[in-house]
Amino acid sequence: PKVIYVSASGERRVVDAGVGDSVMITAVRNGVPGIIGECGGNRSCATCHVWVSDEFLELVGPAEDLEDDMLDLGVSDRRKGSRLSCQIPVSQQLDGMVVEIPPSQS
Ligand code: FES
Repeated sequence: PKVIYVSASGERRVVDAGVGDSVMITAVRNGVPGIIGECGGNRSCATCHVWVSDEFLELVGPAEDLEDDMLDLGVSDRRKGSRLSCQIPVSQQLDGMVVEIPPSQS
């Protein structure tokens, strides 16, 4: 499956992802700027914050409690599509998913 990362300046990067890998680790491995993943996927840094595009929000599903708290605390511009990308496992269903990287991270 492919994940499409869109930077704050609108630059798109299409990355081949492995099923089961998180959207965060896929970005880090491929050097996508703005997704740092400082805590290694433990929901405690929010440096992996992305905005999931509307078409994929339902498939991705809502943030669970701990993630939700972290988004409240650690993210300056929380929107409807805000998710911690370390908490989104890539799947075939999510092929072509577009995630935007907030300007504060790039
Ligand atoms: Fe730290 Fe996602 S990598 S919260």
